[in-house]
Amino acid sequence: MKIARTIEELDACKSALGNGTLAYVPTMGALHEGHLSLVRLAKEKGDYVAVSIFVNPTQFAPHEDFDSYPRIENEDAKSLEAEGVDILFLPTEDIMYPDGKDSDIKAGSAAKGLETTFRPHFFDGVVNIVNRLFNAVKPDLAVFGEKDFQQLQVIKQMVEVLELPIDVIGAPIIRDKSGLALSSRNLYLSEDELVTSRKLNVVLREAARTSDTEAAEKALLDYGFDKIDYVAMRWNRVLGAAWLGETRLIDNVAVR
Ligand code: PAJ
Repeated sequence: MKIARTIEELDACKSALGNGTLAYVPTMGALHEGHLSLVRLAKEKGDYVAVSIFVNPTQFAPHEDFDSYPRIENEDAKSLEAEGVDILFLPTEDIMYPDGKDSDIKAGSAAKGLETTFRPHFFDGVVNIVNRLFNAVKPDLAVFGEKDFQQLQVIKQMVEVLELPIDVIGAPIIRDKSGLALSSRNLYLSEDELVTSRKLNVVLREAARTSDTEAAEKALLDYGFDKIDYVAMRWNRVLGAAWLGETRLIDNVAVR
């Protein structure tokens, strides 16, 4: 696995690959099986795989967890090497935002509501960085997790509107044995919070069956969640976001 820290190094790594398609997985690191499942899908779909790790400041609000977001670059690099990744792109802020952090593009209608109601800055930050990363990596296809279902829709819309020649592929949610969707932020949970967190997918599955999102919000509070941002139906899914202490969890399930 080659490591690139600048656009020039990235170009050199890309030129050293043979002919074939490049599949790309953007991440913010602290990699778990959810991320690695995306890498495996990317390997299936493309001839070569590039992964990036960049904790993107523009998608965090000032009061959010940018500073404390887990950063374990060496461990991540080892996991990616073991998966047979060809290129690991590890840019810094001045590489990705040489012009400062002005948002040059805006998220489209898929960003309306849900996450945006509670994190208004979030999707503009995401499309801004993903567009820059796409420009740097120039992949043929890119894999995003259904775990962040609204994000996946926002990226698909961005690629369509900007007419980028990139196939965006959605990958299923990876969960632990209890059904809890794996997330880098699960690392923040205490033992007690971990027990409660496992109810999120249970409640969303029940809401997918009954379509009763109000009952789902109440059930989450009863189980011990501290605050519910939303439980809502969209894209034939039930999507939810809820707080345990300082930690915000999101999940979604398909309506059958
Ligand atoms: P991050 O939270 O690191 O997630 C990187 C990718 O992994 C996303 O596509 C996300 O949906 C996927 N993912 C995370 N947990 C998953 C799980 N349990 N099962 C399946 N896929 C999972 O999402 C971001 O980073 C950023 O917003 C990014 C797109 C990199 C832009 O900064």
